[in-house]
Amino acid sequence: MVFESELDLMIRSRYPIIYIPSPEEGRAELLIEQVVSSSTPPRELYTWDYVDGFTDKGAGRGNPIQALIEIENARSDVPAVFILRDFHRFLDDIQVSRKVRNLSRHLRTTRKTVVILSPILKIPADLAEDISVLDLAPPTAEEIDAELDLFLQQVRVDLQSGGRDALVKASQGLMMSRIKLGLARAVAHYGRLDENAIKIMLEEKKQRIRRTQVLEFWPATETIDDVGGLDLLKAWLEQRAAAFTPQARDYGLPYPKGILLVGIQGTGKSLSAKATASLWQLPLLRLDMGRLMGGLVGESEARTREMVRIAEAMAPCVLFIDELDKGFAGLSTSGASDSGTTARVLSTILTWMEEKDTPVFIAATANSIDRLPPEVLRKGRFDEVFFIDLPSERERYEIFEVHLSRVRPNRVRDFDIPQLAFQSEGYSGSEIEQAIYEAMHVAFHERREFTSGDILQALSQIIPLSKTAQARIQQLQEWAGTGHCRLASSDARQTSLMGQLFGDSSL
Ligand SMILES: Nc1ncnc2c1ncn2[C@@H]1O[C@H](COP(=O)(O)OP(=O)(O)OP(=O)(O)O)[C@@H](O)[C@H]1O
Ligand SMILES: [Mg+2]
Repeated sequence: MVFESELDLMIRSRYPIIYIPSPEEGRAELLIEQVVSSSTPPRELYTWDYVDGFTDKGAGRGNPIQALIEIENARSDVPAVFILRDFHRFLDDIQVSRKVRNLSRHLRTTRKTVVILSPILKIPADLAEDISVLDLAPPTAEEIDAELDLFLQQVRVDLQSGGRDALVKASQGLMMSRIKLGLARAVAHYGRLDENAIKIMLEEKKQRIRRTQVLEFWPATETIDDVGGLDLLKAWLEQRAAAFTPQARDYGLPYPKGILLVGIQGTGKSLSAKATASLWQLPLLRLDMGRLMGGLVGESEARTREMVRIAEAMAPCVLFIDELDKGFAGLSTSGASDSGTTARVLSTILTWMEEKDTPVFIAATANSIDRLPPEVLRKGRFDEVFFIDLPSERERYEIFEVHLSRVRPNRVRDFDIPQLAFQSEGYSGSEIEQAIYEAMHVAFHERREFTSGDILQALSQIIPLSKTAQARIQQLQEWAGTGHCRLASSDARQTSLMGQLFGDSSL
């Protein structure tokens, strides 16, 4: 419904040229037709494509300039909408682009509207002012449900209870044409519609998400029990485990928006972000910031919109934005050189974060704060910013326990974990993991079982980041000490400078 009312409003407000990027030409045209036919005053609808020209008389066949001239010459007093299919292909041509700009000026004074319909979004920078983009979101759960109704009348259905909801959920985020294809494939393959259809749909979706090149569907294999330490962060997450249920809505709770985890490398930020999805039993989408920003002018913006659209269609879900700071690295130094792309993408994302009322929970991580634009940290964007410090002795104990239980479930007690935890001061979770694997390699090569001694030996050979990046860590700790964020661990104050900054009385 949003699409229809938005389109109606744009037409009535005399937007001269509306660009609808959608691979679903049929569905888009149907919706446009509905909007046009129910509009007052009534409007005419014409469709042009390169091969057939305008549908009524074939004018402008094989000639995009002629098509624009036809629109220009159409009666000004008759309200009309002109759909131009695949017109993005011609916009780079100097003649076409000039004509589009002239036409755009002319259209503003008439009741004629041009709608460009194409599977991808590609607007040359010099036309950006003349063309407005309207997104066609994938179908909602209700629309899918209605489509499923039609489909189920024709085939044998063998779905267990809850299976239908699961099927709708698995289809969310896909375009309707894909959903129909997937259903047809399931029936063709299994002779009926059963649980296998859900698998097929999930597979379709994975592929769809992969094609965006910036989003990835991640299996949430990490659980909250794989995270050692970070008690305050875990408690915060556990408190919100049911926050996306209808019961929470009835209770009047708003959806949690997101968290930002800040800390040095290897302290379990990505791990915790991923564990959130499994704790809350939500699908996990990973956003690749580097890829989002890379590419040609205009591509980043298009990808951002697509990313938002897919994430919302997948909701409720966790959107994992790893290394948020890296994505915005270009902002201060090369703001001009990427023609403001970074700034525009940032503002799109921030606005979305603030306004979204869909249950997309953002779990973002960052290594440093100096590269983060200040508006990211402003209230209203994230529910909380957590600082993750190097693990305390107690936390290192837990981290050793987690990893040793994974590799030697029956021999954990053979290791002197208290000693290991004591001796690994200044090491991050990932360095601890690395030391365990190093010890295993050494012992395996000598054809024996590895011991605490091997791990200690391995630790002594790793120079921890806390030694090599002391200044940076201290700077982060000082920032955290000024109260800009919450501490992820109740031990943080004792482990570091935080103790001095907070003073013991604040505990
Ligand atoms: N608190 C922890 N508990 C258990 N394992 C940990 C912890 N912290 C780190 N690790 C181990 O180190 C690995 C790397 O951690 P992770 O990727 O979460 O670090 P990060 O904070 O995201 O670092 P980076 O800033 O480099 O991305 C994890 O997969 C895990 O095996
Ligand atoms: Mg990480």
